[in-house]
This record gives sequence, structure tokens and C-alpha cells, in this order.
Amino acid sequence: MSNLRGRDIISALQFEREDVERLIDAAESLRKEIEEKGILDYARNKILATVFLEPSTRTRLSFQFAMVKLGGQVIDFGLAEAASIAKGESFEDSMRMVDGYDPDIIVLRQKVPGNAAKAAEICKAPVINAGDGWNEHPTQALLDVYTIWRELRRIDGIRIGIMGDLKYGRTPSSLSYILSKFKDIKIYYIAPEQLQIRPEVLEKIRGVDYEKVDRPEKVMEELDVLYVTRLQKERFEDPSEYERLKGSYNINRELLVKFKHIPIIMHPLPRVFELSTDVDDLPQAKYFEQAKNGMYIRAALIKEILGV
Ligand code: NCD
Repeated sequence: MSNLRGRDIISALQFEREDVERLIDAAESLRKEIEEKGILDYARNKILATVFLEPSTRTRLSFQFAMVKLGGQVIDFGLAEAASIAKGESFEDSMRMVDGYDPDIIVLRQKVPGNAAKAAEICKAPVINAGDGWNEHPTQALLDVYTIWRELRRIDGIRIGIMGDLKYGRTPSSLSYILSKFKDIKIYYIAPEQLQIRPEVLEKIRGVDYEKVDRPEKVMEELDVLYVTRLQKERFEDPSEYERLKGSYNINRELLVKFKHIPIIMHPLPRVFELSTDVDDLPQAKYFEQAKNGMYIRAALIKEILGV
């Protein structure tokens, strides 16, 4: 894809490396402009609708802040519990209705894998998938590679450990997809067997060198980046399995300082118990910057989709 104007963003596989590079450049210039001027006016007279039918803090807020900083307007759908969905309105009808008010972009999070693509078929406005169940979260992948680039000034050749809930998580899949567009990437999937990466992800990243490992200690010295994820409690079919696995991993300061080399530590957040707060003041801890980077790269994406 060479220009994202008017496009839906459903999967991280849609991004070619040129798209990522161009969006990173745009995010860097918008960062400077926003730091200087506060609110810009690229998106004047444009409306972004946020429809979040699953919980969110960062993704929803960073899209909303990004649009406001571009000078546009935001309308939020509100909580699913407070909307007509709670009265039994179908997803399709809700989406048709939102689209009927003519927003310029719809940002959608909901729990059914594949329903972002369905919404894109229903709506004339471009739809950005902000998470469709365990499937994908393409704009998180963008901010993840943006963060890697800001820290290491390259994406090619990185060695990354993606750890935690690779089965039910949507960030490990989208991150793998976007990394597959770069050269000489090595991915270590760090998880117990029950939470290992879904086979369909491995099929789609053919050509990428990967390895499955069960413990972070085994590969820590090899890594440029350790990407930690939360166990997706809400997606476990069997709550006792969650209880059994939840102690599996904890990245803490004591563990990290044992190594001569500590990789950059990333996490899409929210964290629960898998990443201790005592890691926060290590210079390698980058997850709060990562969240902030999300606003700039999402601003770059919105600007390009709007064609402004
Ligand atoms: C992630 C998500 O929603 O998939 N959060 C986010 O968007 N930053 C990760 C998670 O919920 O564990």
C-alpha cells in the first residue's frame, strides 16, 4: 500500500515496510509540531468516532487525543452497557447507525475476531480495527515498531522475545505480522506450551526466523527487546487454567539484573502481575514511552487516512 487515504485498517499485514517508514517519519514531525504548537489544524472539520465495545484506556484515549491534537472532533459511542446493544441491538445495526452520521473515520474495538472486517464492509467511513477479540490490533503493532525504531534506530535485524499470552493475545500476532515485513528478524516466542503462539500466525509470517521457548532466562542475553504481555483472563475458556498459569512468568528487577545485558522492556499495557513495578526505573523500561508514542503514530495514521 503506498497511501492509506480512505483505507480501512483491519490487519497489520496490510502495512508494507514503506508504509511503516513513512508513518514513523510523519509521527516524528507531528511530535515536533504538537510539542511546539499544541493543537494543529490538519483535521479541522473532520470527525472521528470511537466505538469501544470492550474495555480500553490507552487505545481509546490515544486515538481521541491524536484526533483532537490534529484539530479534529471526536464522538465517543460510550459504554456498550449504556448503548442500545444492551437492549439487543445487533452489531451490524449499531455500526450502520454510527456510519449514518457520516464520521470521517470509525475506530472500533469489539470482541469477535473478524468483526472489524465485517464493520468495514458495512460502513462507508474507513474503519480502524482497534482490537477484534484475540485476533489483531494493527495500530498497536505500529506503535510497537515505532518504539523499537526510536530506541534502536532500526527495525531490521532485531532479536525480540515476545512473552506471555501468545494464544489469546492480539498484540503478539499483529506485532509478528508487522515485523515480518522487515529483514533478518528473529522472534523468540516465550510462553508455556498452552499459551504458545497460534499456528495461523506462524503460517502468515513465513520466512521469519522464530523459535518457541518456555523460559525468558534461556534467551535474555540474545534479545534487543523483551515484549511482555498480560494473560488475557477474559478470553480463557476455563478459569482454573488461568489460575494455574498466572504464576508462570514474572519479569522483575531481581531477575533482570542477573544478566550482563538487559534488553529494552516493552509491554502494550495494562500490566497485571507479569511485569513488576520495580522494573519501572531501569533505563531499559520503555512501556510508558511506548504508550505515549501511540498517540503520535495514530495521529500520523489518521492524517494519512483523511488525506489532509
Ligand atoms: C492490549 C489490548 O487491548 O490488546 N492493550 C492495549 O491496547 N494497549 C493488551 C491487553 O489488553 O493485554
